Amino acid sequence: MRLSRYFLPVLKETPAEAQIVSHRLMLRAGMIRQQAAGIYSWLPLGYKVLKRIEQIVHEEQQKAGHLPLLMPTLQSAELWQKSGRYDAYGPEMLRFTDRHDREMLYGPTNEEMITDIVAAYVSSYKALPLTLYHIQWKFRDEVRPRFGVMRGREFLMKDGYNFDLTKEDALHAYNRHLVTYLRTYERMGLQAIPMRADSGPIGGDYTHEFLVLAETGESEVFYDSEITELTFGDRAIDYDDKAECQAVLEEFTSRYARTDETHDEAAFGEIPEERRRSARGIEVGQIFYFGTEYSEKLGAMVTDAEGQKVPLHMGSHGIGVSRLLGAIIEASHDDKGIIWPEGVTPFHAGIVNLRQGDAATDAACEQLYAGLQAKGLEPLYDDRDERAGGKFATMDLIGLPWRVTVGPRGLEKGVVELTSRKTGESEEMGLEAAIDRLAQIYEGIA
Ligand SMILES: Nc1ncnc2c1ncn2[C@@H]1O[C@H](COP(=O)(O)OP(=O)(O)O)[C@@H](O)[C@H]1O
Ligand SMILES: [Mg+2]
Repeated sequence: MRLSRYFLPVLKETPAEAQIVSHRLMLRAGMIRQQAAGIYSWLPLGYKVLKRIEQIVHEEQQKAGHLPLLMPTLQSAELWQKSGRYDAYGPEMLRFTDRHDREMLYGPTNEEMITDIVAAYVSSYKALPLTLYHIQWKFRDEVRPRFGVMRGREFLMKDGYNFDLTKEDALHAYNRHLVTYLRTYERMGLQAIPMRADSGPIGGDYTHEFLVLAETGESEVFYDSEITELTFGDRAIDYDDKAECQAVLEEFTSRYARTDETHDEAAFGEIPEERRRSARGIEVGQIFYFGTEYSEKLGAMVTDAEGQKVPLHMGSHGIGVSRLLGAIIEASHDDKGIIWPEGVTPFHAGIVNLRQGDAATDAACEQLYAGLQAKGLEPLYDDRDERAGGKFATMDLIGLPWRVTVGPRGLEKGVVELTSRKTGESEEMGLEAAIDRLAQIYEGIA
């Protein structure tokens, strides 16, 4: 992409309405525009990151055998009356009637609908295990939408639902989700810690929230500092292997880590004092096992091997896809702007031409641009007729992990400059070497 042809409405001023850094930076970098309280347009740069995050979520879900589908945003009230949640949900649910006076709603979540789908088509235990998920817009009429995409009213969520014959199988699905979530967040450059959470009115011990530590987080959390040393990394996992998935759950949940709702002072006190931490966190996901409640109410039954009709064991598993943009920026920025982790960056590298219109620098930039594309990378070439300072400021603000600077003085020596956004360190090298270096950096990521 050439910046002269892109739509990147960066703001010079810091928007007054934005209280936290990620919201400020998303507005300043021209990623989003508020259309109503908690409702945003995703401008090209923001949309690109959103799509990148979606793609990572899809890839990790499908590695575990979970199947994508797409349910609508609008739902009829009927299913919700069956589950009993139509009244229980309260004013957070956006309700309306269509022209035939039928009661409708904008889905805040999809347990009812997915259970109805499975009830309609699945009748034998042989079709199990089954996990279906989608990435779809949700609407929750939050009392206080705030912090930009962090707490929106319309927001994008990945929600997945497992259907299993037994509790044991459903807990295996739970563990699979835990593993997929660890991998998903790590690919986005985030450490999201699974913490024991409140299961709310559904009850049971089986729920974990994934929290990214950040001062601006809305949740209060308590944990053993040892937990922050754990990473999943690139180890192989066999998702069909129950023991292997269970071992990961144990590894990542055996140390104390809880949100304030389940915090237990006595248990916390048993950790050596120097490892006790209390902090704030951003909830970027939650997994849940809740048994047969929805399948009983909505008739999702199968015949088991003995020919008995039994209700399916279910769980639901959510990732806050649009919120993740805010969470990543909260975790990765400096006073000049965003610092995208390589896994989610909207462009792989920026090219800054220090003397636009100069035959040699223009030619070198074109060569870089084409060379990076030939390696499967997507550069953003700042080809505007602007001063170097302005170009650098834009690149720093939008946070591409790598910048290649091309100027007449360097070209005389046969070099360009490769700069890391994160460390600020620069290195001079030949043009082809810069292309090779970037290709190497993104190997296995892009
Ligand atoms: N209002 C919102 N704006 C943006 N993301 C949200 C919002 N509400 C929930 N999410 C994201 O969706 C994920 C799954 O939602 P869920 O656990 O059902 O939400 P909650 O914990 O608010 O009840 C959450 O972990 C969070 O990351
Ligand atoms: Mg939650």
